[in-house]
Amino acid sequence: MEKGFPKGFLWGAATSAYQVEGAALEGGKGLSQQDVVNKEYSQKTGFADASIASDHYHHYKEDVALFKEMGFNCYRFSIGWSRIFPKGKGEPNPEGVKFYHDLINELKANGMEPVVTLYHYDLPMALVDEYDGWVNREVVKDFEHYARFVINEFKDDVKYWLTINEQSIIVQYWTQKCYIRPELQDNNQLRYQINHHMNLAHAIAVKLVHELVPGGMAGAALGYAPVYPLTSKPEDVMAAQNAHDLRNSYYLDVYFKGFYNKSAWIYLEENNLAPIMEPGDEELMKEGISDFLALNYYASECAKYCPETTQRRWSGFNQSGKKGEISGFETQPGFYQMCKNPELDTTDWDWAIDPTGLEYIFRDLYTRYNRPLMITENGLGAYDTLTEDGKVHDEYRIAYLRDHVKAMKKAIHYGAEVIGYMPWSALDLLSTSNGVKKRYGFIYVDRSDDDPKQCTRIRKDSFYWYQKVIGSNGEDL
Ligand code: BG6
Repeated sequence: MEKGFPKGFLWGAATSAYQVEGAALEGGKGLSQQDVVNKEYSQKTGFADASIASDHYHHYKEDVALFKEMGFNCYRFSIGWSRIFPKGKGEPNPEGVKFYHDLINELKANGMEPVVTLYHYDLPMALVDEYDGWVNREVVKDFEHYARFVINEFKDDVKYWLTINEQSIIVQYWTQKCYIRPELQDNNQLRYQINHHMNLAHAIAVKLVHELVPGGMAGAALGYAPVYPLTSKPEDVMAAQNAHDLRNSYYLDVYFKGFYNKSAWIYLEENNLAPIMEPGDEELMKEGISDFLALNYYASECAKYCPETTQRRWSGFNQSGKKGEISGFETQPGFYQMCKNPELDTTDWDWAIDPTGLEYIFRDLYTRYNRPLMITENGLGAYDTLTEDGKVHDEYRIAYLRDHVKAMKKAIHYGAEVIGYMPWSALDLLSTSNGVKKRYGFIYVDRSDDDPKQCTRIRKDSFYWYQKVIGSNGEDL
């Protein structure tokens, strides 16, 4: 008989500050780089910006009540650095600190364990204006000041700390996840330099949790996709291994071993992309070994052989929401070229749908690193329709999530230690790349890209499905 989910398994869902909160300039909050990036993007595309998002700042009590109704025993959210330190450093903003105390108290009063992300793309804009943000090593010091304050302030109520969200995705989509001045955008080495600064920040945060939070646990939330070879030709299999090293192990080895993956590092050095390291950096990374790994899993990837003479390219994405309109695939000459997997169906935004990939990564990662694993994002971005009966019949989302929960169960059966599932997203929110019309939530937020309306909350069909799943500890799928 298949082993079920363990007792005490964490069931909930996830969001991030700038994607749900809104109130971008309320309560003493300073601008974050996402306020600026999304404003500029909105002017070009007509997508919503981050100023109102899902207006969670004003609706948080109602939202927590809905989470409770669904049966959540945990909730993943992020703290907006510029809500705590409007200028990125200096004195904390009491109203911002109070907002997160209120939210955490509300969660705890309703039986939910807060799972807190320290950094989810929203660096205070003041630090970008002052020294180009993550590009500059100076940021590590300011991150430490921020992290120390936050961890200390909330240490009595928060056990699970996520350090930095999706470093691997930040490297690929750096101008979307960070504000990068146009003059710097041709310097691709900076992608890996930013990542190195984040590795230092991550290690510092892990150490701070160990120092300040009794029983606290820390880990990064990594955007993770297994890489399959396009064919069984040995050169494609090798390309998939190369892609896995540079896109996955390059991050994981730092989190769990404290040093960079060898082959990825050599490739970066030979191509003038490797970050500059200073004496003591590796020691710091070794002191900040993670307690668990949080995975954001949406899709698997595919790679094929890439001749030396091919031109370097970085990941493209689909802006239109029409299948097949992806703007390109990452290409690392002589190492690998990413490509479409012909075996898998995709979402309207060309993300491959692959529940088996989830079982695969759990089993692979547990064997390799032997640390507890949790899902801190997984979900289907889709167009939802509010029908005349006032409902949202999102059976496609239920099908996607059901298959992924089944895959997770199978991985547990085969011995992987999985401690929680927090799909994306608790409620509809602002997508990082496709406005608010690409929806992920269990709770529909009634707004459009050009009209924020009242942001009324409506339970989708998936809300009731997930309630049943949680109520049966993953048995009734
Ligand atoms: C992850 C991010 O990359 O994927 C989230 O951590 C994001 O912030 C999610 O919203 C889905 O991506 P997108 O671009 O569809 O919003």
